[in-house]
Amino acid sequence: MVVKGEIAVTQLMGPALQFAVDLLAFSILGDPTKDPVFKSVDQALGGVLADSARAESFEGKAGQSITVHTHGKIPARRILVVGGGPGGDFANPNIRDVAATVAQAANKFGAATVGFLLPSLGANREAALIQMTAEGVHLGTYKFSRYLTHDDHKRPTSLKSFAIGSDLKGKKPTAGQTKTFLAAVSRGKTIAAAVNHARDLINEPAAVVTPQALAVDAQAIAKKHKGSLTVTVLDAKKCAELGMGMFLAVGQGSVQEVRFIHMTYKPSKKPKKKICFIGKGVTFDSGGYSLKPSQAMEDMKVDMSGAAAVISAMDAIATIGSDVEVHAVAACCENLVSGHAYKLGDVLTSMDGTTVEINNTDAEGRLTLGDAITYVRDKIKPDEMFDFATLTGACMVALGPYTAGVMSDHEPLVKNWMSVAQRTGEDMWRLPLNSRLREQLKSPIADMRNTGDRFGGAITAGLFLKTFAKDTPWVHVDIAGPASLTNARPSQPKGGTGFAVASIVEYATQH
Ligand code: BES
Ligand code: MN
Ligand code: ZN
Repeated sequence: MVVKGEIAVTQLMGPALQFAVDLLAFSILGDPTKDPVFKSVDQALGGVLADSARAESFEGKAGQSITVHTHGKIPARRILVVGGGPGGDFANPNIRDVAATVAQAANKFGAATVGFLLPSLGANREAALIQMTAEGVHLGTYKFSRYLTHDDHKRPTSLKSFAIGSDLKGKKPTAGQTKTFLAAVSRGKTIAAAVNHARDLINEPAAVVTPQALAVDAQAIAKKHKGSLTVTVLDAKKCAELGMGMFLAVGQGSVQEVRFIHMTYKPSKKPKKKICFIGKGVTFDSGGYSLKPSQAMEDMKVDMSGAAAVISAMDAIATIGSDVEVHAVAACCENLVSGHAYKLGDVLTSMDGTTVEINNTDAEGRLTLGDAITYVRDKIKPDEMFDFATLTGACMVALGPYTAGVMSDHEPLVKNWMSVAQRTGEDMWRLPLNSRLREQLKSPIADMRNTGDRFGGAITAGLFLKTFAKDTPWVHVDIAGPASLTNARPSQPKGGTGFAVASIVEYATQH
């Protein structure tokens, strides 16, 4: 949606200290006086780097950085040292933030060319570090500027090329190293592009990203991957034929008609298994008649972040390729107030026949997801399914704004998922699906009601979904917190984050 200049991420060739770039950057873990790269660069500059580190109390801690001019002592014009420690580990995603910091600094200084020295941590970690560096460059230069009309935002940013090297001496890389490098950069770029696309979808106002707009977006992605990716979009009539009484009830208050999106990726060979990612796609959540107060409603265009994640991830999965069959499903609608809206006390019949009494129209996500889960079980019959949903404020109360809540009864699947999240550096924490809380969902007139008490709100939402997931191996990820942030970090500007895209892509392409 937002057209930006491309940044080429390339392999740094030759000795870094001879590299004629606008900005030469590297990162250190703690004490600069103990870092060999820092010492060599400092020596080449006649000691000004160490001077400046002392003067600015730079200790190589995460979040700290120093910049010095080289005044012609080496071909590079400026040096930037970014802190990553102490106790930091470059294999963890903070390398993404380091790379993002470097890319942002380059744009701030008007630098077009960057040389970045990765710490050498052994060949087995190199690919992951290179990939995350590439991700950091593309994620850190993301900006949702479509509606900013001031000239400053129209001018193209300066950064054009970002060269990554891993040793000062600039040994010529072997053919194998170059191959690994190119593959890692391309994977990182593909993933970051999908994350940034999800960010665009989340940051766009609800007036633009309607259920139909999400369907059109999914279709455009499928068109890019003819032969491997297809999409089916069901309208309200089709959903009614399938009996999606919960999903349709949530959407019936809006003039924007619901859209049920189903994308399918098929590998060229016979797939090893079938997996499905489901995303909550409420394009605006007013709360319905259980109306949200204005402040809580202000950011509710983000309530389709799960759908944005699964749809965008399919683009990257199709680009990278996978030997499993991957489905993405999103039941998309708006939760509004009108003469047609569903009401408290209504009893809905879900696609699987379960009846649900509505005691809160603001607990709409679980209704849309419940029918989506039944559709997935009935029509797709996957071996494994995952859902991603900005589902409960309670999950944010429990875990804070940066961590997603993970719920599942399937030990091997949830373990595998958590290890993927660990690798991608997306912050996730498991919550118990304590079935004792199910009593909160009892209704005197229907099979269940849609909300429980205040305590354990993230878990009762998970238990509600479990009713529909039944015995299919399933993991529920509540992303209400990390889907959108008010505090930026280098690789994540304020607003939509594209959270979960990286883990979805990693999970689908890990084999
Ligand atoms: N979309 C909201 C949850 C949410 C809150 C997402 C904050 C992102 C940030 C969800 O539909 C909702 O309203 N949940 C209710 C559930 C309650 C009525 C049981 C909530 O958390 O208050
Ligand atoms: Mn709601
Ligand atoms: Zn919602």
